[in-house]
Amino acid sequence: MERQKFGSRLGFILVSAGCAIGLGNVWKFPYLCGEYGGAAFILIYLAFLLLLGIPVLICEFSIGRGSGKSVATGFENLEPSGTRWHWMKWIGIIGCYLLMMFYTMVGGWMLYYCWRSIRGEFVQASTEEVANAFNSMLGNAGTLIFWTVLVCVLCFAVCAMGLKNGIEKVSKFMMVALLAIMVVLAIRSVTMEGAEVGLRFYLIPDFNKMVENGIGNVVFGALSQSFFTLSIGIGAMMIFGSYMPKDRALPGEAINITILDTSVALLAGFIIIPACFAFGIEPGAGPSLIFITLPNIFAQMAGGRVWSALFFLFLSFAALTTIIAVYENLIAMMSDLFGWERKKSVLFCLVSMLILSMPAVLGFNVLSGIAPLGEGSTIMDFEDFIVSNNLLPLGSLGYVLFCTRKNGWGWMNFQKEANTGMGLHFPAGLKWYVSWCVPVIIMIIYLKGYYDMFKGGSPLRLAFWMAVAICMLGYVIFSAAGKPKMQATKRGRK
Ligand code: PHE
Repeated sequence: MERQKFGSRLGFILVSAGCAIGLGNVWKFPYLCGEYGGAAFILIYLAFLLLLGIPVLICEFSIGRGSGKSVATGFENLEPSGTRWHWMKWIGIIGCYLLMMFYTMVGGWMLYYCWRSIRGEFVQASTEEVANAFNSMLGNAGTLIFWTVLVCVLCFAVCAMGLKNGIEKVSKFMMVALLAIMVVLAIRSVTMEGAEVGLRFYLIPDFNKMVENGIGNVVFGALSQSFFTLSIGIGAMMIFGSYMPKDRALPGEAINITILDTSVALLAGFIIIPACFAFGIEPGAGPSLIFITLPNIFAQMAGGRVWSALFFLFLSFAALTTIIAVYENLIAMMSDLFGWERKKSVLFCLVSMLILSMPAVLGFNVLSGIAPLGEGSTIMDFEDFIVSNNLLPLGSLGYVLFCTRKNGWGWMNFQKEANTGMGLHFPAGLKWYVSWCVPVIIMIIYLKGYYDMFKGGSPLRLAFWMAVAICMLGYVIFSAAGKPKMQATKRGRK
């Protein structure tokens, strides 16, 4: 079967940027900034994007375009026979499913808040009422199920219409609307009286604050965030490499997508942080920043109903383009694995996603007694932890190793694929850096991050989680360590 291709280069860029730009930019980034002390966190985050994120993204796109497949069968197509790189597929398949198991629900929250804003639920509401509105949403399984199912059905419907007529068209529209709404909101926020203090917090680094928070925590937070925001490590971007024609070189495209993604994150900060300061609210509220702090601001603001509806529409578009993109991955994986046609894959993924979203949904109400990561944590936190803190960095490590090791695809094949087409090429001088520095930095931060996260509890608990981390890392290293059979090589086979 002929591989589908994008209708245009802009389509490729906007769909990939749509996959990258999501809750990570508009929800996680502003609250992490608020928690970790503003500009100092941003600087580290930008450094990681440049030093690690872009090289990994280029590797991922190259494997996708070189193999012409999703992560489910891409490695089989390129690996020398006898090696075990294809084991990496499980990180991709499980990662995409797990991510969507909670992301779909949070997408539902966004849509619901958009609806609530349009109905004027937050106009003149007191601080308490706003907080109650959030908690009662979480407590009500019926409401959560309704909005989760709605998002699931809508997004699979877009995928069912195909790459060019469904995903490309819808994502293009949503992305352009998102960029326009965002500029309007940022201007509104920055021109509010009292916004300067917020701008200062946001733009002038305060390294003391970073030390207060623990440098290790801030660095691990920045690393996870940079992988999460670029969608790298679980094959989510690989699929779009496989739909890309050979006329453009991949490094330039990866940089364009990173610039778009970063601009949206920074602008989201411009929208949220100055507004918090203007209304005398601390921006360090954490995950509830968007759902509790901001509706409070809108409640006090003239024309708050319109601004709030626009704001949540903006968040919904960001979430939906990502969900559509990852659903496309799931569909393509099933087709690649079982040879199913698109309709059958869509139906299978829709049904399985509906069922698999339920643990996260019920984790806030019926199953709220389950706290997998200790007191107060939820099933969603656990799923997010497995994906963001484990599968993304480990998958990224696997891609970099595959592209640089002799027993893998190898540097020459990788370079050839990445540099096919017009535009910016990958500098050959970076070979040593990508082959050694990138993997070592990822491994150190991964292990150190685990250590910092669990060192507060009992030694037994720390030992347990460190063992988990070492086993997971071991899985990647084992996949990477297979010896090729002599002579027989499948390299570059399409
Ligand atoms: N990049 C997405 C966001 O910022 C999340 C994501 C991570 C999507 C990994 C796919 C894969 O919301």
